[in-house]
Amino acid sequence: MLLPHGGELVNRVVPERERAKVLEEAKSYPSLVVDTDALLDIENIAVGVFSPLKGFMTHEELLSVAYHMSLPGGVVWSLPVLLQLREKPEVDGRVALKDTSGRIKAIVDVKEVYRIDLPLIAKLVWGTESEEHPGVKLFYSKGEWAVGGDVWLLEKVEFPFRDWILTPEETRKIFEYRGWKTVVGFQTRNAPHRAHEYLQRIGLEVADGLFVNPVLGWRKSDDFDPLTVLEAYEYLINSYYPKNRVLLSGLATAMRYAGPREAVFHAIVRKNFGCTHFIVGRDHAGVGDFYDPYEAHRIFDRLPEDIGIEIIKVSAVFYCRSCDCIASEKSCGHEENQRVYVSMTKIRNMLREGKFPPEEMIRRDVAELLIKRRTKSLTNVHS
Ligand code: ADX
Repeated sequence: MLLPHGGELVNRVVPERERAKVLEEAKSYPSLVVDTDALLDIENIAVGVFSPLKGFMTHEELLSVAYHMSLPGGVVWSLPVLLQLREKPEVDGRVALKDTSGRIKAIVDVKEVYRIDLPLIAKLVWGTESEEHPGVKLFYSKGEWAVGGDVWLLEKVEFPFRDWILTPEETRKIFEYRGWKTVVGFQTRNAPHRAHEYLQRIGLEVADGLFVNPVLGWRKSDDFDPLTVLEAYEYLINSYYPKNRVLLSGLATAMRYAGPREAVFHAIVRKNFGCTHFIVGRDHAGVGDFYDPYEAHRIFDRLPEDIGIEIIKVSAVFYCRSCDCIASEKSCGHEENQRVYVSMTKIRNMLREGKFPPEEMIRRDVAELLIKRRTKSLTNVHS
């Protein structure tokens, strides 16, 4: 099986037998209250989703990632993973991390407390300093202070979609058990439309198994809520796909909307889950028109080293009236005026009004399921 990024799967979960003792000790440490996004990322670090990261980035690591897209040792890494705070924390050594109800969830061994140059990092990572960008806005809102240091997880955060999450150790075991030598990872933040399906079928053609891995963490408020996405996928997989060749599991981290950089991050994370291939379509993890739609393809040619997972790059997918099927810029020879582009914004707007979007864009039965859930699906349950 493909090795995790950096060579081995990180495990920073305090063993069950030690937990009570460590928790008791932690009560005497200075503490910090952290939000759900941070606690989810501690869990991602602790169970190896973010391998080789063992903790939150120091200033040197942050600058290395922002400027060079690699960690100081040379391993490719494209997005900041930070413990951000709005006020300067007066902490040192071992610190207990609490959830907002005051329960100790993790420990951080503080290496450094530092101030982040927020606009500089935003410009380097997101390509813009603008707060119009939802990822940048969220980044600014978390605060300009950061604590760098390795973490230990004591207890997982309460999270409504817990049953939908698998660890890399579990997905790797499932892939092995099912005999999948090659697995293609699919990232999404949306309910499935026809273009997504086209991409996934390409994946099923190329690899032994398909790993559908929707993001379950924070997303901008007009995106679908995670449960709707998961249920729509469960329906699609059970109704249309070869079930035994698909695994559905959520990724409990926030969307950053960092386009090309996030495509690299998404690929690395799926490599850690055991995927050998990863699909990157048009404008991957993009928002508005902040990114050139194919920059998320080109970025993989500019990485300081090979990240060891094969990227399946797919161009814009649409329905072509002349072909009378779903096709892509690379597989269709007809004029622009024959093409019906699959627009998530259009689909969402129609669903919001209780209308069925054109079947060329989204399956009728999937749309029905989304309309049934529309009151919930169009409000953010995790903002
Ligand atoms: S994303 O933020 O997770 O990228 P979304 O869930 O819409 O958003 O997309 C999931 C994957 O499908 C991404 O790789 C994206 O590039 C791809 N994709 C979505 N729509 C299209 C389309 N019309 N044509 C080609 N690729 C697409």
